[in-house]
Amino acid sequence: MAVEFVTARGRIEKQGVDAIVVSTFEKNLSPDAKRIDSALGGEITTAIEKNEFEGKNASLMVIRTLGKLKQRRVIVVGLGSEKEYSENKHYAFNAAAAAFGVVKNYAETIAFHISPFEIKRAVEACVVSSYDFQEFKSAGDDKKDVKLKRVVFVFDSEGDAAKARAEIAYAKTIAEAQNYARMLDNTNPAVATPLYIATQARKLAGGKVKVSVWGKKELEKKGYDAIVSVGKGSANDPQLLVMEYEGGRKGEKPYAIVGKGVCFDSGGLSLKPSSYMDFMQYDKSGACTVIATIKALKELNLPVNVVGIAPLVENLPSGTAYKPGDIIKTASGKTIEVSNTDAEGRVVLSDALHHATLYKPKGIIDLATLTGAVVVALGHDAAGLMTNNPALAGKIKSAADKSGERVWELPMWKEYEVLVKSEIADIINSDKGHAAGTIEGGMFLKNFVGEYPWVHLDIAGVAWVEKPGVNFRAGSTGWGVRLLTEFFKSESR
Ligand code: BES
Ligand code: MN
Ligand code: ZN
Repeated sequence: MAVEFVTARGRIEKQGVDAIVVSTFEKNLSPDAKRIDSALGGEITTAIEKNEFEGKNASLMVIRTLGKLKQRRVIVVGLGSEKEYSENKHYAFNAAAAAFGVVKNYAETIAFHISPFEIKRAVEACVVSSYDFQEFKSAGDDKKDVKLKRVVFVFDSEGDAAKARAEIAYAKTIAEAQNYARMLDNTNPAVATPLYIATQARKLAGGKVKVSVWGKKELEKKGYDAIVSVGKGSANDPQLLVMEYEGGRKGEKPYAIVGKGVCFDSGGLSLKPSSYMDFMQYDKSGACTVIATIKALKELNLPVNVVGIAPLVENLPSGTAYKPGDIIKTASGKTIEVSNTDAEGRVVLSDALHHATLYKPKGIIDLATLTGAVVVALGHDAAGLMTNNPALAGKIKSAADKSGERVWELPMWKEYEVLVKSEIADIINSDKGHAAGTIEGGMFLKNFVGEYPWVHLDIAGVAWVEKPGVNFRAGSTGWGVRLLTEFFKSESR
């Protein structure tokens, strides 16, 4: 099933494959594309002249070769203008993903001219765009089976090809972990209960990974009432998942990564309207990213210590559900006034972030589908970043730049503290107004990380796609697995 990658040198049109992929900048054919254009009697230049193909980033043109070349098809992929391409790191990923995304369904073998891609981005794009969530489609015309088996990356020099081979294995591991996060997240909510997710994570234990799970009884005993409260409305008990990866020196303080794991968010008694409830199985995306990142770290054997933490719950209405007006005593000792049971993510994260501080971590990074407001602010192209530590935030931003996942910082000014001020408890989980909803979430979480360097990523806009897009067909994106792995890789130097 998995795609095999090999390297080669020489002209791309000499490769014995079903299809070849060539890339081109806007109005500026690469030498490859020029040769292939003339072999095809000027097909590419004609399409450009007639404005049928402009070479915009991630745009595609599929040409049937009709015997003019030994491959049946040529896929021309646009990179955008040279200037845009060099300034936007995600352009490479998007262009490669677009190409693989179409070719995977009809070619078993393809050749891909690597220049000007980075091999890492190309491998990641191929692995990520080769995963479709089709398990529940019956066989038939509508089921898109992935045919792609073998990709030949064509290099200009043998030196480049040799260097690439180590990077290929590395990138493949990371991208497969990203697909693992997507697969977990895509598992439908009837199956993917808190215990199910915890049980899947347990399978990653062994070697340098230790996994422990607290069920409802332990959570009650330890005073993790925030997690217990949110879980009260469901027949499926809440769980706290902790995964310790010890790849670094013994005794060296770890980083903590914390992921929101709301396996279904109906809003609870503050029930969501049905149009907002659709897709709320993806409210566990942060947790899936954390689990998959630990998997990647283990497989890459990176020399870092990292603890992954995920509060896993279902937020449902019932006679036993937590209520607006409740006051919860969290594990940290701070009390929360619940004004809206739909602001449940920050409630469960209060206990999870507190748990992270027990490790005296070098830093805490949390990922959470926390607010609809971040979709209003940034749409589906960037996660909202909030922090109490510019140095750690800077490192996360540069990891994001490398991985092609985008983040954008929002302020955490003192003036926003009123948004979470309660008259009767230490903090309120939601303001009555609708101002600065994403920052409100960040201001709330800040209260539970103590003085530890912390970055909060609100991933509500990027964690899944509803319609097929350039990189992803539909469903979970596994956002953040590449970013976090890049971050830990640079930390382990
Ligand atoms: N899981 C939702 C946030 C969300 C909304 C994610 C849409 C993805 C798409 C979160 O638990 C939530 O319901 N947030 C509320 C907070 C409000 C009650 C303060 C929201 O955003 O409306
Ligand atoms: Mn909610
Ligand atoms: Zn939620």
